[in-house]
Amino acid sequence: MINSDLLSDECIKEIDNEFCSFGDTVHYSSNPKVFAGCEGSFMYDSNDTPYLDLQMWYASCNFGYKNKRIINAVLEQIETLPQITPKFLYNYKPLLAEKIAKANLKRFGEKGRVHFNVGGAQATEDAIKLARNYTKRNGMFAFMGGYHGRTIGASCVTSSFRYRERYGHFGDRANFVPFPYCFRCHYGKKCESCDFYCVKQFAKNFESEYNSFYDKATGESEFKAFIAEPCLGTGGYINPPKGYFKALKQVLDDFGIMFIVDEIQMGMFRTGKLWAIEHYGVTPDVITFAKSITNGMNPLSGFWAKEKFIAPNVFPPGSAHSTYASNPIGVRAGYEVMSIVEEEESMLSSSIARKSNMFLNGLYELKRKYKCIGDVGGIGFALRIELTENDGFTPNKRLCDLMQEEGLKGNLSYNGKKYGLVLNNGGFYKNIITLVPSLYITDEEINMALELLNQLFERCS
Ligand SMILES: Cc1ncc(COP(=O)(O)O)c(C=O)c1O
Repeated sequence: MINSDLLSDECIKEIDNEFCSFGDTVHYSSNPKVFAGCEGSFMYDSNDTPYLDLQMWYASCNFGYKNKRIINAVLEQIETLPQITPKFLYNYKPLLAEKIAKANLKRFGEKGRVHFNVGGAQATEDAIKLARNYTKRNGMFAFMGGYHGRTIGASCVTSSFRYRERYGHFGDRANFVPFPYCFRCHYGKKCESCDFYCVKQFAKNFESEYNSFYDKATGESEFKAFIAEPCLGTGGYINPPKGYFKALKQVLDDFGIMFIVDEIQMGMFRTGKLWAIEHYGVTPDVITFAKSITNGMNPLSGFWAKEKFIAPNVFPPGSAHSTYASNPIGVRAGYEVMSIVEEEESMLSSSIARKSNMFLNGLYELKRKYKCIGDVGGIGFALRIELTENDGFTPNKRLCDLMQEEGLKGNLSYNGKKYGLVLNNGGFYKNIITLVPSLYITDEEINMALELLNQLFERCS
């Protein structure tokens, strides 16, 4: 597993310290962890210690590290056609588009087309362009707590002020709408009795043109698209209550507002279905994807849109482009991932449902044992542990940071062997451990995850 020619961890850190920008995210940590290998559900450090990974490259490797089938497909592409300018066609690009379009036709009964790009933020940008092109308006709605990328355009629809703060005025900043985060309801309501109060508040904006959104006389809205994650990813793996999206979509339909669903993190079976929005019985106009479409093998992203928004006479040649968009290695990996999805659909749905239940039951047990767990929940393999003070409500970011640091020390134990645990956090208060295992995680590895989490709680809480 380990290549002995590799530099020591300390040496890697020294070179990084001198020559790399600190503007990316690795330097959130003052002492970044160095890894040397990965396989299945595990990362390996330079001593070959396995770390059970419960974040899978921020949900980019849903189908497990070094998935043989996807790697072989990529190797075959490298041997045949590894490079080609986007000016020309090759087999797998339309074949992948066809797979995604047909998957959506089957799910939503809607014909559509697929447009490719390279990263998630670029897919967001392209979806915004599509909406602006169709509606001739640039006003957008987005959720508080939503995350759609960090380019300038994607930052306009990403609520976190931290990401815009240093970069001047954002004229196209979205109108941010409270997400139905029922554990910490924006309006102080209780989920059982609120009757979708938050959707009603949203709808009120359209009652009078003095509310600044909509003119009844002309039927024109200044805001023409809503970009939404069906479950918040970076926002803490929070999923809306049943019925929420149906109620929201009704308002959008009433006022002619496009519904763009960002499946970059929650798509590709993360929640037990190809797209997370399928849990909510509504049909989006646009779906963005990235990350696990290639299982992390090569960047590829894109969006699917209903035909009326993306027909060639509406979204003509050159509307969006990047040299690396539809790169053959990413596309070939994507084609293999979509083939896996087609072939394993029923197995994946039932195994994710069963194992998610098993994982969640273990989390409920931990919640009963530790007062610092305020809430646990999630859907499929997008699970969360909300860490709080002992009152069960006040967010506890310190504990969340500490557990991540301790997990990376690689000195937990399971069945007499040393392990580490790779965790990630999210949420409005960065106090939520977001659990994103490989979709192929075994029962034994789930038991290990629960035991290692238990050891971390014992150590840190
Ligand atoms: C929901 C969502 N949208 C967009 C993005 C941006 O993707 P990328 O980091 O590839 O630009 C992310 C990344 O975490 C994401 O989770």
